[in-house]
Formats: sequence, C-alpha cells, structure tokens
Amino acid sequence: LLVNASEASARKMPDTLFGIFFEEINHAGAGGLWAEFVCNRGFESGGSFTPHRIEPWSIIGNNSSVIVSTDLSSCFDRNKVALQVEVLCDNGGANICPDGGVGVYNPGFWGMNIEHGKSYKLVFYVRSDKPINLLVALTSSNGLNKLATKTVVADNVSNWTKVFVLLEAEGTDSNSRLELRSTTKGVIWFDQVSLMPLDTYNGDGFRKDLFGMLKDLKPAFIRFPGGCFVEGERLKNAFWWNETIGPWENRPGHFGDVWGYWTDDGLGHFEFLQLAEDLGALPIWVFNSGISHKEQVDTSDILPFVQDILHGLEFARGAPNSRWGSVRASMGHLEPFDLKYVAIGNEDCNYSKYRGNYLKFYSAIKEAYPDIKIISNCDGSSKVLDHPADLYDFHIYATASEIFSNASRFDDALRSGPKAFISEYAVHGKDTGKGSLLAALAEAAFLIGAEKNSDVIEMASYAPLFVNDKDWRWTADAIVFTSSQAYGTPSYWMQHFFKESNGATLLTSTLQANPSNALIASAITWRNETDNNNYLRIKVVNFGSSRATLNISISGLSLQSSGATKTILTSSNVMDENSFTDRKKISPVKTMLGEVSENMDVTLLPYSFTSFDLL
Ligand code: AHR
Repeated sequence: LLVNASEASARKMPDTLFGIFFEEINHAGAGGLWAEFVCNRGFESGGSFTPHRIEPWSIIGNNSSVIVSTDLSSCFDRNKVALQVEVLCDNGGANICPDGGVGVYNPGFWGMNIEHGKSYKLVFYVRSDKPINLLVALTSSNGLNKLATKTVVADNVSNWTKVFVLLEAEGTDSNSRLELRSTTKGVIWFDQVSLMPLDTYNGDGFRKDLFGMLKDLKPAFIRFPGGCFVEGERLKNAFWWNETIGPWENRPGHFGDVWGYWTDDGLGHFEFLQLAEDLGALPIWVFNSGISHKEQVDTSDILPFVQDILHGLEFARGAPNSRWGSVRASMGHLEPFDLKYVAIGNEDCNYSKYRGNYLKFYSAIKEAYPDIKIISNCDGSSKVLDHPADLYDFHIYATASEIFSNASRFDDALRSGPKAFISEYAVHGKDTGKGSLLAALAEAAFLIGAEKNSDVIEMASYAPLFVNDKDWRWTADAIVFTSSQAYGTPSYWMQHFFKESNGATLLTSTLQANPSNALIASAITWRNETDNNNYLRIKVVNFGSSRATLNISISGLSLQSSGATKTILTSSNVMDENSFTDRKKISPVKTMLGEVSENMDVTLLPYSFTSFDLL
C-alpha cells in the first residue's frame, strides 16, 4: 500500500460525511430511545370509535368487580378517548373488592425496566363524581411483587384533574408493569397516563444507555424520522409533524401502517430536533412529499402541504415571537434549532407526482430559507437531475459481496452537480443474520469507498439504527435492545472506525497488489483534540478468507517510532454475531503496534477490518 502524505495529494473530507439515520421502525423510538414506559398512554390506539380495545392495557379484576370501557369524554380536544373504570365492588358490604382493589395495568413495551433506588415520574388525568382513593404501583409482571406504591386521595375530582406522583423503586425488575387500582365503588375516568424515569439524557426524555451509544458514534448529522415511516402506506398514517408537537397530552398519536404499530408521538418533531442538538449533530428533516406508498396528492392540490412544511420550518427556526416559533418557545426552546437540511420525501422519485410536488416545495423553501439545503429522492450519480437540488438521496441494500463491490460505485459518478447523500446503506438478506461480521466488513469497504469519493459524497448513514429485540421488523440493525440492555452489532462497531473521518484529510493511497481483490484501504490524517496529536489512520478491510501480509510505504511524512496502535474488528467465524450473552464478541480490539516505520509489513487477519493509528 503506497500512502502519499504530501499536501498536494491531500483533500479535506466533508465535515458532515458520517452521521446516523433514525427511523421509527422496530420500536426504535416508542419503547426504545424515547424513555416513556406507558404504551398507548391516551387509550387512543383503537381509533376514535368507542368502545374499543385498549391494548396493551389490561384489566385487574373480573366481571363482578369491574367494567372497563372507553368513551369520548377526554378534556383534550385532539384525542377525545378516555378510559372509564366502573368499580362494582367496595371496601365493605356484599361485594368486597379483592386485595389491593381493581382497575387496569399497563405492561409498557414488553415490560418496564424499573431499577432499585431510581425515581419515576407518573402523571395522569382523572375524573370522578365521588372522592377517589387510588393505589398506584409498579409491580412485577404478575402483580405479585410490589416495587413502588403510592396512594392518591382526592375529595373532589369532578372536573378532569392532573395528578403527579413520584414513585421511588425499592426493587429491580426489567419486566415490570404500572397498576392503577381502586377499592371504592363508583366510576372513575382516566386519561393520558405517562410514566418516565426521572433520569433521562439531559432531562430531555432519551433513554440514557441508547443515547450514549449514539453519542459515541460522534455523528455529524441525524436524519429523521424515516424512511417509509414518513410516507405511510396511506397518507393518513404518515408522520405529520404538526400532530406531534405541543403538550404531550394533546398529541393524537398515530398508527404507522408501514411498520405496523401505534406511536403516541411523544418523540415528535420537537424532540427529534432536541435529539440532534443533544447529540451535537445537524438535524436532517425528511418530510412527506404528498406521497404515501399507495396514494399521491396531485400537484394542483399540494399547496396546503407546502404551507404546512413552511410552518414546520418556522417552528424549528423562527423567532420566539413568530407564530410557530412561539410554539417551540412555549415547549422550552427559545433559541431556534440549527435546521439546515431537509429531504423532500423518501424513495419517492418514481412516483408520477414527485417532480411536480418537489418543485413546489423546493421553490417555496428556497424563497423563505435560501440557506436550507434540499435533498431530492432522485439518483443524480449517473444522470443530470431534471430538477434543482443541493443533494440527492441514494439508498443501497444488497448482499455482502455486492456492498463490498459497491465501494467503487461512485468512482465514475458525475463530478459536478448535486452531491450524494447515501442516507441508507446496509447489507440485507441472508448475509446479515441478525448482524454478522461479514455484513460489517462489506459495509466498512463501502464506507472506505465513500471516503475516497467524498468529493461527490457529502453524507452517509447506516440503516436501520435500532431494533427492539421483541419486534424485529427489519434485519439487520446497528443496535439491539430490550427494556434494560443493549448491544451493538458488528455494523455498529464498524462505524466507530469512521468517527474521526468527518472533516479529516484524505490522502492518496494505492494498493499495488491486491490478491483476489479482497483488500480495500484508505489513509487519512486527523487531529485528536484530546491528546493534541496529529494521527495518520490507515484502514484496511480484508474481505478474503486468507491471512495477508501488507507492505505499507508512506511518503511525505515522518512517523514517531512509538505510540502507534492497531485496532481490529474480526472473529473466528465470518457469520459470527453479537448477542445479549456476548455483547462485545465482535467489537474493536486495540493494541499497541510496537516499533513502526515509513516502510513496514503488517499482517491482516482473514475476514478482518484493521485500523492503524500512527503518529
Ligand atoms: O431502512 C428500512 C427502510 O428501507 C426504510 O424505511 C426505507 O427508506 C427503505 O426502503
């Protein structure tokens, strides 16, 4: 491998090259990154007809002790459904309530992770014509073991009343449930029940362990909220930003019909912008282009949709006294968010209405916000686009060998015109299992190709980011989690090798010999702000089954003889995966390299990804 470190051969890579893509898929947000424990907190998931199913809420008691139903008596105008609990039993008389009373429980998203010593904030709305005496509790999944309990007593709740309870856990159970019970005969209405851990990232509602895994990737940007989630099968089930803002109690929630589950939209437009800010990443908002998988808005009818998106931009960027900026300010964020990128639609290029709709959104946004970069869904790598765009979106899901070969996909791409945003790439299908080393190696090769073509590629992100282990809608994913645990797949760890690449300098590196074409390599220089050293990082994927010896010859730079390290991602079997029992089986292993020189031989293990950090 010849590495030319002279200035003449060097090129700065975009500051934005590697980031992340968050989609509400696999319960990534609801029951995942968004720390809300209660699923279906407003009882709305069954629709607006009543009575309806209240899943996953369940009844505590039997037909002779309690009747649970729904009606439309909520005080929240955007979600009228409320829960009606008619307690038939009493604390005396002929029909005595069972121990602890009757009512309802919510198991969360496959169990709530309650931890000893931690505090949980319970908020709910209640109404009754009689005084109430409620028992609220966090319990084991069968209700037998109580982890935290409180009594809520009130003489007059004849109008809807907000109740706040701080629950302190005296036990640990990752499969807990929330109970609301009463032992007093009468009718009680409940609505908008929320339980959050007090301890979320920055108090912003993000589950800390999952947030930390994202932050560790040092993402330059975060694309959100989808994916197909943005489109919906039907337009009515798409993600509409303005239904997801304001007080959480008044968000209608929606059924995401592509991935097949209900979200209460606690993680809404505001929270996504907040997430980007907390990560120190640029937000990239993907909005619906008037196209779902099965429906299209005619371009002659698109103006209200355009107007709505301008409102969403004003919400993010407007002054605190502007119409929509004031809504953001009322949610606690006076300063505008740093929103500079939007994508018009997701994978919509081949729909007949796309171009017409796109142009309407494009010209309105450019007029109001000339600095916003607009991303088209149409591939501009080989053909000049027939519409204006700052970037074009490119998605690739393929087998491992195809992704490996696609490292050179952009070698012949158009060198002028909009740059590429590879917003979704991953090995998909049989080569991945639930996240294999093979997939990660192919993806690493693909990203090395992206570095080398970063004159025409401005951004790249892996997809999907998260999967709740109880709801695999898409395989594979970068981070697998349950209510209490998480691990990174090899594809997650592979991305760690690239987190210093944003804004780094790419050097010319040439493989002189490449037996079986199994190797791919790049060389970058970057400055480590922690130790104030400049590093030369050489990354090499060995996609072959044989060990290889590589001669590295560096010109234009003299190396320090000590302090160099080598980091390897590999395993004994290329189809190996990480798991909850062996979370870091395949993860970067860093060792000292010993003596180094400008001309040296290194060994590359079969099926491995190695980075050499030289000073
Ligand atoms: O990442 C999963 C899905 O793949 C995304 O929702 C969509 O954009 C693509 O088809």
